[in-house]
Amino acid sequence: MRACYTQSVLVVLFLVADPTFVWGAAASAHQTEGLWGKGEASDWHAFEHASPSPIANAETADVAVDFWHRYEEDFAIARRLGLDSVRISIAWEKVEPAPGVFDEEVIAHYRRIVVAMRAAGLRPMIALHHFTHPSWFVARGGWTAEGSAAWFFRYAAHVTFALRDLCELWITFNEPSVLVNLGFVKGDYPPNARSIPAAVQASLNLARAHQAVAAWIHRLQPEKGPGKNSRGLFGVGLVNSLQLYTPARAWHPLDRLFAWTIDALANWSYLHLALRTELVGEDARAIIGARTASDWIGVNYYGRFNVRAGRVRGVCAPDDAVADNGWCIYPDGLETMLKETAARFSLPLIVGENGLADAADRLRPEVIRRSLAALDRSKQTLDVRGYYHWSLTDNFEWLHGYKYRFGLVSVGRDLQRWVRPSGEVYAEEIRKRRLSD
Ligand code: BGC
Repeated sequence: MRACYTQSVLVVLFLVADPTFVWGAAASAHQTEGLWGKGEASDWHAFEHASPSPIANAETADVAVDFWHRYEEDFAIARRLGLDSVRISIAWEKVEPAPGVFDEEVIAHYRRIVVAMRAAGLRPMIALHHFTHPSWFVARGGWTAEGSAAWFFRYAAHVTFALRDLCELWITFNEPSVLVNLGFVKGDYPPNARSIPAAVQASLNLARAHQAVAAWIHRLQPEKGPGKNSRGLFGVGLVNSLQLYTPARAWHPLDRLFAWTIDALANWSYLHLALRTELVGEDARAIIGARTASDWIGVNYYGRFNVRAGRVRGVCAPDDAVADNGWCIYPDGLETMLKETAARFSLPLIVGENGLADAADRLRPEVIRRSLAALDRSKQTLDVRGYYHWSLTDNFEWLHGYKYRFGLVSVGRDLQRWVRPSGEVYAEEIRKRRLSD
């Protein structure tokens, strides 16, 4: 009886301890869902099926990890690990396969997914865009087209309206600066352009689209914004790739200049653009009003990149662990990037993505411990409201197909799910923090 009483007290304490901090894991539609006759008319589908294939081992996301059908299993795992929330995304190409034509069956399916997530006790965080586009949008000029922000707005308004009773936590865009850099500067991702004017045009249109959609969500769910001083995670934000770029040779003026320039362009330029509301028209500005174009900013941090003059990426520092994809893993850098973001924008923060490619799970357990220690230190002085590990499950890693494994949960070719030891470590770290809170 006494044990039972103690246990109930612990459970109550558990629930009241820092209830506002959100522990989660993230994924995206194209990387996990599979197509199933609904997502074929997209830029990435066409790209993956080009000949010769630009993807490692000529792999495709046609099946991915079949999240489209196996979401309940994934949510059950997330819940068992003690997560509060799962970040997913909506595939624009599935929802709006032709201009202005919405597939209500697809929307009904997304509703089922979100209902199942909530039934598992998880808060949905939904990204409206994660790198992929409908083919019709691309055919009309994509993000360089005059109408692009309006076309995205039409889709985003439709889908947020359809899910407004189920979700209160939205991301407009995942990593717009990566989309622009890889799509329009380096040309590795669709639309495979290499044009600075196109990159500038696309950045402006992405910023306008972010602002218009954020304003719409504020009007749709006026009671859901966190406001500056309230606690908790609600409303709408954007998540951007924010990596630590350090000069390979600290004494070398050119290395320092290159590192500074990459930091300015890759990390901060888009955020400055997206959060400047004078880019939008009068109407939208009136709606944005007292609230800014974002309720919070998501920091997607993976590691540090040593920059040598003339080379975009250098070798890892001797102390850094090296992930399967060559990225230099430096967990303490999470604190630096959170601080750098807070110094520039006075908005609440979340860690929108953090993780590593590590198929053997050799490094991930320790990296999680050290990253969460960096998060703890950051929380002492900064307003950080959530942490999302990338990724809940293994998935389709864009140009690299299934070669790199980011999951807390491993997914084999047979689509069976197995929680990696690092998944249990993450669960344990969350438990410890809830208890000590
Ligand atoms: C992207 C994910 C990607 C991850 C690892 C992030 O930049 O948002 O889609 O899988 O990095 O490369």
